[in-house]
Amino acid sequence: MHLTRDQLEFLQHWLEEQVGLVIESDQAFFVASRLYPVITRLGWNDYSPLITKLKDRTEFMLAQEVIESLLTHETSFFRDAHYFDELVCRTLPRIIDRRKGDRRIAIWCAACSTGQEAYSIAMLLRERFAEQLRGWQVEILATDLSTRAIQQARAGRYTDVEVHRGLSEGRIAQHFRRDGLSWNIDDRLKQMIQFHQVNLKGAWPPISTMDLILVRNVLVYMHPPTRERILKRMQQILHSDGHLMLGSSESTSVTGIPTVSIRSVIS
Ligand SMILES: C[S@@+](CC[C@H](N)C(=O)[O-])C[C@H]1O[C@@H](n2cnc3c(N)ncnc32)[C@H](O)[C@@H]1O
Repeated sequence: MHLTRDQLEFLQHWLEEQVGLVIESDQAFFVASRLYPVITRLGWNDYSPLITKLKDRTEFMLAQEVIESLLTHETSFFRDAHYFDELVCRTLPRIIDRRKGDRRIAIWCAACSTGQEAYSIAMLLRERFAEQLRGWQVEILATDLSTRAIQQARAGRYTDVEVHRGLSEGRIAQHFRRDGLSWNIDDRLKQMIQFHQVNLKGAWPPISTMDLILVRNVLVYMHPPTRERILKRMQQILHSDGHLMLGSSESTSVTGIPTVSIRSVIS
């Protein structure tokens, strides 16, 4: 079932306005295939009633379902391992050193998907910095637009394939417990993280000052002005000596934010 050009153009505009994500003009097939289960569930034979309802802006739940259907949650534990090497070797020791006075560190994984990124940070803190951080207040906030992704992250429950993407057998044994065909993450790691649903393009809940913000592999799907607006808001809640970590294909023209440099680790 095809989307007409007008329908695709409406959806491009609508999604960008709601959540900042850009649908390219050659993604008609992708969009149609993601929305097909939605119209089938509602007993519709084509996309017109869906577009009409979205235009009416009265069906909040339907709008949420459409947004959920169009999201991509690609992630893994320790995705792009060199980022985590950088964190262990340089960024985290630097932050810990600077915060010796108030003994508090705060980290935000914005767009955390199903939680692997936030749990990777929690594992590093437990494995490598537990002694130094004894008695400290360690806050990890992990947010995503997707309610479904946040539910899985909060549950800390992963398939065999998911745990084997990025984790060694040693780490699996150390931090997970088998439960039938799934793996449950250690409660001590779960307790380190607060998971919440947040739309980076919309209103944010009050967020305390952060030492480190990871916003990886999401801004690349947004137009530059949206990206810059989000980065400027992040800059306002970053400590003046805080760090921002972007994905490998992302960059910022916002001045004054110390981005964690990955290139120097690769070379
Ligand atoms: C490709 S995943 C990246 C996950 C993780 N940061 C990583 O690098 O592995 C992108 C995530 O961004 C989330 N996302 C997309 N638009 C968003 C928005 N406006 N606000 C918050 N999260 C968003 C999606 O739900 C998805 O889970």
